[in-house]
Amino acid sequence: MKQDPKLPLKFPKSFLWGAASAAHQTEGGTHNQWSVWELENAKALASRAKYIHGHVPKWDEIKHEAQRAENYVSGKATDHYHKYPEDFAILKKLGMNSWRFSIEWSRIEPEQGAWNAEAIEHYRTYLQRLKVLGIEPIVTLWHWTQPVWFDRKGGFMKRKNIQYFERFAAKVLDELGRDFRYIVTVNEPDTYVGQGFFAANWPPQIHSPWKGFVTLLNLLTAHKRVYKLAHSAGRKYKVGIAKFAAYHYAGDDALLSKITAGLAKWGSEYFAMNRIKKHLDFVGLNYYRALRYYGYRQHEAEDYVNDMGWEMQPGKIEDIVKDYYDRYNLPIIITENGVADRDDEYRKWWISQTLMALNRALQSGVKIEGYMHWSLTDNFEWSSGYWPRFGLVAIDYKTGKRHVRPSAAWFGGVIKKIRS
Ligand code: BGC
Repeated sequence: MKQDPKLPLKFPKSFLWGAASAAHQTEGGTHNQWSVWELENAKALASRAKYIHGHVPKWDEIKHEAQRAENYVSGKATDHYHKYPEDFAILKKLGMNSWRFSIEWSRIEPEQGAWNAEAIEHYRTYLQRLKVLGIEPIVTLWHWTQPVWFDRKGGFMKRKNIQYFERFAAKVLDELGRDFRYIVTVNEPDTYVGQGFFAANWPPQIHSPWKGFVTLLNLLTAHKRVYKLAHSAGRKYKVGIAKFAAYHYAGDDALLSKITAGLAKWGSEYFAMNRIKKHLDFVGLNYYRALRYYGYRQHEAEDYVNDMGWEMQPGKIEDIVKDYYDRYNLPIIITENGVADRDDEYRKWWISQTLMALNRALQSGVKIEGYMHWSLTDNFEWSSGYWPRFGLVAIDYKTGKRHVRPSAAWFGGVIKKIRS
């Protein structure tokens, strides 16, 4: 399974090589709608762990962690809020020149209309540090978390609340906008809605497809408004979203399986994109998994699955970028891509397959401008908590120590070779 990428990998000189993260999953000490939900649900998640995660290949290894309520409370996370200089030094060591992160709205505007000068200053220093290191920031404005006051007003379920997000975006541009060019307005709005309103196992846990649908439309409107706002500001921003992308396929030859795979692909890949395609400077794609359909349902694969039970077909990223490029003719940045792999068994293979696939797509004319691996370090994986390990760098949660995994050291070498 392990394989080194076949050289030469001809990536453009200006290619962004980096890693991606999100505030709530790394910073620690965030107070937002999600942290409130965690405290209310941690015990229930721990007691239902076997039912939710019992099927994953390493259940025996993770069950102790997954059955503890602490696993489900983000708490101090990786303490990236304080340890970012250390994390940036690792990025640099790995030869990376880009970093995707999110600015936590609940820090900037903890109460409605009250701006927190200290938090703004924090992100200013943070961005300046990136500049000094020659690392291009990609700034996400909404990565699923929002201030409690905004959530209590109904969040993105209500169209009239979009103005608050616009105001936050305007504040960020005004205060910090000189220090970045790339903006990801919203991260995977479809996943948030699918999990929050259809499956209803994430906040706001409202089982209402209709409310979910309205929320999705509002998030897309929010994206469009911030796109316009950024372009009306003097500087030349590049504005995109981070879009969930998967490889959808029928598990057998039955017509129904094929129809289901086709419909799922349309709903999941194109529905949102078709609504915002005129308001994008680039498409950010988050690719993690293949989704297999039998009959009218999705079935998890049994083989080639990562620690979370997700089917791994890294090479399919080639088909995905080609498809998005053919349809939308926009530059692509891989805003997330990675694998839950606590024992570092698959990561090298995954990255290697991915780079070869991207290389093939590039050579066939697809415009790909960057690759952000998810994630630099292990972090808080939403309702699954801490046990899934996506990091190039392992975190020892007891000591906070960072350990570069072997696959990451190898990846750093590949990046340096390509960039040299
Ligand atoms: C999200 C990340 C998450 C990752 C792995 C993406 O959908 O944007 O926040 O950690 O997937 O599940």
